[in-house]
Amino acid sequence: MMSAPAQHDRYRKLVEISNIINSTLEIDALLDLAIETVSSTLDAEGCSLVLRQPGTDDLYFRSAAGAAREEIKKIRLKLGDGVAGLVALEGKPLLITDAQSDTRVRHDISRRVGMPVRSILCTPLSVEGKVVGSIEVINPRSKPNFDDEDMQFLSAVSDSVAIAVRNARLFTQVSSEKETLSRVLGLQPTIIGNSEPMKTIFTMVNKIMRTDVTILITGETGTGKGLIARFIHENSQRRHQLLVEVNCAAIPDTLIESELFGHEKGSFTGASYQRKGKFELADNGTLCLDEIGELSPRAQAKLLRAIEEQRFERIGSNTTLSTDVRVLATTNRDLAQSVKEGQFRNDLYYRLNQIEVHIPPLRERREDILLLVEHYIEEFNGQFEKNVVALSVPAKNFLLDYDWPGNVRELKNMIKRAVLLCDEEEIRCEHFPLLVQPGQERAAIAGAQEFPNLGELERMHIIAALQRAEGVKKKAADLLGISRSTLDRKIEAHKIAL
Ligand SMILES: Nc1ncnc2c1ncn2[C@@H]1O[C@H](COP(=O)(O)OP(=O)(O)OP(=O)(O)O)[C@@H](O)[C@H]1O
Ligand SMILES: [Mg+2]
Repeated sequence: MMSAPAQHDRYRKLVEISNIINSTLEIDALLDLAIETVSSTLDAEGCSLVLRQPGTDDLYFRSAAGAAREEIKKIRLKLGDGVAGLVALEGKPLLITDAQSDTRVRHDISRRVGMPVRSILCTPLSVEGKVVGSIEVINPRSKPNFDDEDMQFLSAVSDSVAIAVRNARLFTQVSSEKETLSRVLGLQPTIIGNSEPMKTIFTMVNKIMRTDVTILITGETGTGKGLIARFIHENSQRRHQLLVEVNCAAIPDTLIESELFGHEKGSFTGASYQRKGKFELADNGTLCLDEIGELSPRAQAKLLRAIEEQRFERIGSNTTLSTDVRVLATTNRDLAQSVKEGQFRNDLYYRLNQIEVHIPPLRERREDILLLVEHYIEEFNGQFEKNVVALSVPAKNFLLDYDWPGNVRELKNMIKRAVLLCDEEEIRCEHFPLLVQPGQERAAIAGAQEFPNLGELERMHIIAALQRAEGVKKKAADLLGISRSTLDRKIEAHKIAL
């Protein structure tokens, strides 16, 4: 009979295992962990887990612990073969106490892995009446044989592991269906562009998207940095996991570290509960850090370590957590310049900039303009049930000549508005916003006021910038070439309602 503390300890292990299982869909890590825990709790010389290849009679070793783990993983079994195969076939646990003379044992395998067997305990992995495999432990170190209590423990672990295996298989199935669906439905990000710079970008992205290198995506606002980041993630091995985005410019300095790395309850005023950071959320997936140039020096230092070592601590905790995160970063600043000016860490810059994808502004690749216009006319025709088929010649010329300070985002919004406003088959200049139309800007303002003074012009211009930046002040400030705080002051002075 087992002592009460020992039983308690086993129960705790069991809870630990089921917690782990319920919190992750990463089957590899999970099975390894379950096997390690079983092997140490039952003090076994060896422990292994076989799974049935769905739809076949083949079993393969998915995970093993003990001295022979690597050798064991190379072995293939058939259903009914050896102890593990027999249990997987019959779905009943098996306890063998005199393994040496038992004919069900595959002695050739124990010879091959150099582990003479004395005692074997094996339980099936079954869920909803289906056996998906089995877990086997070999030779307890501190006693001659495994016993009934060991069997109870292993059976309980098996039940949890079986559910995890089923969940992971369902997940894989759902993910691959999602992938097929998103291809069919065109949810995969579509990147339009036929200009030379875009072709170069496509070639480059194709080469690097499946690797884990850190990529710095640069370009003005609205050029498609976020789009490229999503495209890279959706085409990487990490596509079944999350793409977590953090906009470094939108989060105050004081909170950015907690946003990235998480915090423990009570670690600072306002931290009333424990919170996971984006690094933790993006584990096994991709973390996209937008506007990386805005990070404070302190956050830069922490970020560098997290990227280099793939380790970090939550704020207020001494426990180091490790992650497996692929980092993408975007910026519309000239980071090299920020490095020169001492605002951005040199080492972090070189770490992020393993590869740079630079997207030129739309005005430097005018060949893409009409392609994008066509693409968006089609999209918004569908969305708004319109039937726009063409552009008037002046409208086309206007789009081709326009400066596009807001790049593709601005073009997209302009076409969206035009399609909405257009009741005929042809988009004309009048469907574009008044403020962007050359020569009409002054007329529009003059219509409201005989001769606008500078203050009034400034007010109009700020409103136009805010509209173009879709209300994002940082972007509006960039468009206007002023700082965010100057913009705030001007918004207040001009009494602009947001
Ligand atoms: N080449 C492209 N083809 C199709 N759509 C594009 C392209 N480039 C950008 N877009 C669209 O333009 C909009 C703006 O793109 P995105 O958000 O990726 O820009 P960004 O560079 O990340 O901007 P910001 O610096 O403001 O974050 C999105 O709706 C995106 O889908
Ligand atoms: Mg972006």
